[in-house]
Amino acid sequence: MLIDSYGRTIDYLRISVTDRCNLRCVYCTPEEGVDLLNHADVLSYEEMLDFSRTAVELGIKSIRLTGGEPLVRRDFVGFVERLAAIPGLEDVSLTTNAVLLEEFAEPLYRAGVRRVNIGIDTLNQSAFKQITRRDEAARAITGIHQAIDVGMKPVKLNVVVMRGVNDDFAPFVALARELPVYIRFIEYMPVSNGLKNEFFVAGAEILERLGTFGELEAAPAPAGSGPSRKYWRFADSLGAFGQISAMTEHFCPECSRLRLTADGKLRVCLFCDAEIDVKPALRPVFDRIKTAELIELAVASKPEKYSLDGRAANGRTMGQIGG
Ligand code: GTP
Ligand code: 5AD
Ligand code: SF4
Repeated sequence: MLIDSYGRTIDYLRISVTDRCNLRCVYCTPEEGVDLLNHADVLSYEEMLDFSRTAVELGIKSIRLTGGEPLVRRDFVGFVERLAAIPGLEDVSLTTNAVLLEEFAEPLYRAGVRRVNIGIDTLNQSAFKQITRRDEAARAITGIHQAIDVGMKPVKLNVVVMRGVNDDFAPFVALARELPVYIRFIEYMPVSNGLKNEFFVAGAEILERLGTFGELEAAPAPAGSGPSRKYWRFADSLGAFGQISAMTEHFCPECSRLRLTADGKLRVCLFCDAEIDVKPALRPVFDRIKTAELIELAVASKPEKYSLDGRAANGRTMGQIGG
């Protein structure tokens, strides 16, 4: 088992398989995009599998694949199939913007993915275009339906709330009445992007405003060890609501996570730019550097809680880390 210096069990790994994305969400990526990684720097699927095997031997039980947008990387389904076959790995999940899910939900299910999280901040076509700078609302919404239809469970939706842009919750309340989705309203996090604080809406306000649509009752939490632990529902809704309030409520004491970037850097906290390069172990120059030792070093250096001071002005964007 991997236990960090504060007694937390680390059993969850997020792998960003690519820094590329087919959207340009305002809080994640600048309009002109970011400097993309060179192909030679991106870990091959083989290297990601090697890393994952060692991580699972050490105690990782759950792997979430992120991006950029994971579905834009070539032969992603083939990779998932091989990843899901690693003995001891209990859970392979995905965070996606759903634009390509109509095509990939079914093959992904067959490859072993049973649950997906979908970033979708609005159901309105013009607001979608404003937030993501791409006209893909229709395909994303079709993707959500397709994920449910092929049997993904749970399907969680991530809604990053921005005041005056997408803080009318009525369409999501209506969606939750019809579909078995877990809609999580997320406080916008200031991670290397230019979104101003005037857009920020605190979790407590989100919950209060959700309560104006009817009486909320506690709902059971779906699978996943993430930052959204409490869920609520209306008596007549199939779906439920959750909240991710990373800015106003710290969930660091329960953090179980490590992150691997597409170019092979282990990050010990979403908000800390310190990185451990695992490429020298995966592309051995010296036999002495071992993946397992680097993972143990990362776990030992996990901070007790995040501090925004640990971030460099030119640090990676959320899209380059994978959320
Ligand atoms: P599961 O519990 O496996 O369903 O994953 P999740 O809900 O953590 O994953 P997802 O990729 O859907 O992320 C949802 C939101 O939580 C995103 O805004 C992430 O940036 C945020 N998030 C995920 N992990 C952390 C974390 O360790 N710290 C902070 N502050 N935010 C996180
Ligand atoms: N603040 C909060 N959540 C964010 N995400 C991306 N950027 C941010 C941000 N700055 C969320 C999106 C995506 C998930 C991986 O991270 O909802 O689905
Ligand atoms: Fe792409 Fe996700 Fe970032 Fe939006 S939040 S630009 S979908 S990586």
